[in-house]
Amino acid sequence: MEYSLDLNENQYEVRTLTMGETTIRFRAFEDLVYVRHPVDLEHQKLNLYIPEDYYEGKTIHGYTGKTVPIFFPNASGAYASGPADRPGPNFRLWGRGKPNGIFYALAAGFVVAAPGSRGRTVQDENGDFLGCAPAHIVDLKAAVRYLRHNKDRILGDTEHIISNGTSAGGALSALLGTSGNSVEYEPYLEALGAAQERDDIFAASCYTPIMDLEHADMAYEWMFHGVNHYELHIVKNIGGELHESFVEGDMTPEQIEQSDFLVARFADYVNSLGLEDGTGTSLELSSDGSGSFRNYVTSFVVQSAQRALDQGADLSGMPWITVENSRVTALDLAAHARYATRMKQLPAFDQWDLRSPENELFGTAKQQFQHFTEYGKAHSTAGGELCDSRIVALMNPLTFAKGDRSQVCRHWRIRFGTLDRDTSMAVSVIFAAVLRQAGFDVDYFMPWEIPHAGDYDMDELFTWIRSLCP
Ligand code: DHB
Repeated sequence: MEYSLDLNENQYEVRTLTMGETTIRFRAFEDLVYVRHPVDLEHQKLNLYIPEDYYEGKTIHGYTGKTVPIFFPNASGAYASGPADRPGPNFRLWGRGKPNGIFYALAAGFVVAAPGSRGRTVQDENGDFLGCAPAHIVDLKAAVRYLRHNKDRILGDTEHIISNGTSAGGALSALLGTSGNSVEYEPYLEALGAAQERDDIFAASCYTPIMDLEHADMAYEWMFHGVNHYELHIVKNIGGELHESFVEGDMTPEQIEQSDFLVARFADYVNSLGLEDGTGTSLELSSDGSGSFRNYVTSFVVQSAQRALDQGADLSGMPWITVENSRVTALDLAAHARYATRMKQLPAFDQWDLRSPENELFGTAKQQFQHFTEYGKAHSTAGGELCDSRIVALMNPLTFAKGDRSQVCRHWRIRFGTLDRDTSMAVSVIFAAVLRQAGFDVDYFMPWEIPHAGDYDMDELFTWIRSLCP
């Protein structure tokens, strides 16, 4: 069966939804299949929500139905499939008890297109895996193309699509932002019957992007080197009930030795990037992990602590932070890492026993788990194969960040909380620096004491969007 890519303008419901003190009224166009030949009908669809005010000729924040930006939040987590989401309660652990981003965005007057996408856990009736890399990003691109294909049937400005996501979803938002119109995804899009339209976007908002997976193990050891105890808080949603458990332990002598090795490899990696700090100082590392790049990462934590201090936070219980005359003048990053605690043991991502979500992301239709680094493959205790490096590259926003092989979006907002331990802070710092050096507009900040989370500052996010789309 072939699905039409033409949205039916008459098929919608007008809904009213109240959460807390806020009531929103919007037109809901749901379950819009965005490819002609879907392989996973549950996820290859999007929900489109348009504030009813625009149909009544009203303006919100100066926007009309023609000019209002389109907020494009993906709901991917842990590289599993993401549902085409609806306005309502936040289903993410960190958002418990609050409305989700879709609700906030509609309340703020934006059009919202919420795409579903396949993920690593999706299987067909033969048991083949349908959502391994690069399925997630292919689906998001197809959804963007669908919106452009229907631009005259919907409200909202398809030249002002702003992507948003957290964690794996943050990485996908980043990838959507860097890989616009890349021909490298074309065969996948064509096979699905995606609309023949552009898939570049206007801006990307990325919370804690779990990206650059090829280098994430080394970056993690650089961050948590010497922190040999790990603590993993697991929360599972089983039938709507949250079950919490705690795994902790100490790294083995072999892991501790390997940590030194990976720190040195991370230094090689950073030194190969040609990064500078924005004032002309080159960013480098010695094989022990010290150097100007470390100082640069530290400067973002200092900036964050300074803002917290200015807002009245008490930093006196943190002896690794030096405050003189209300200025944060020094911060010991290693002590900060001990305070934050290590979540993942070595290797954090390309696990030797193939147990990570990323091992599954880089599997194939028949092979559920694979390695994605030479290092992981060399240490495999599970006889794992190595994923094709071209596929791994198609999942990495950095592949495209210099803008020489795709249409990279101009505007970036990247957030990584100072207590986030799901990946190294170095990962997003590198990404932001590469984008800045390539001439893009990057707003990078590490919110103070925020753990692995997203969508915690929607008002600021919306102010940023409005400043870009006056
Ligand atoms: C997510 C968290 C992780 O620790 C990880 O390795 C991948 C994804 C997430 O929350 O999406």
